[in-house]
Amino acid sequence: MPVIPMSQAHGTTASEQDGTAGGDIFICRSDALQEAGKGVVFALQAGSDCGSGFVVRYNGKVHAYLNRCAHVPIELDWERGVFFESSGLYLMCSTHGAIYLPDSGQCAGGPCRGGRLLAISVFETDAGVFWRPDNYFHAPPAIEVRPPGSAPS
Ligand code: FES
Repeated sequence: MPVIPMSQAHGTTASEQDGTAGGDIFICRSDALQEAGKGVVFALQAGSDCGSGFVVRYNGKVHAYLNRCAHVPIELDWERGVFFESSGLYLMCSTHGAIYLPDSGQCAGGPCRGGRLLAISVFETDAGVFWRPDNYFHAPPAIEVRPPGSAPS
């Protein structure tokens, strides 16, 4: 599943769709997230680092985290969007098998011991699933596309 650049994630904010606070960013439709199923990965900036976040559904609610393991700072999903292990009870890092509680991000076993995933503020309305950026997690800068040979602006 490809990472969704925020500029392409339908290009609208929540406030444009249903009157929620300005600056909220649409991630996906609600039906894109099945219970303990595949997650949706989206591009973000964490502090000054470009990276990705992901959102999953667990016990009916949406939960989102920075896509970065607490053991070694690499993405969790070897196969894009696959975060749950086979029981559907835990999020699992594909590299060394650290497992995390889906509703808190707290490590539940493996080499992440004592660590946790960094939570991203998300919410769901009738219009879909939205991300509320903050001082640390924010939308990545837009990528400038220029014709070959043209000068940067
Ligand atoms: S990198 Fe995730 S468990 Fe080691």
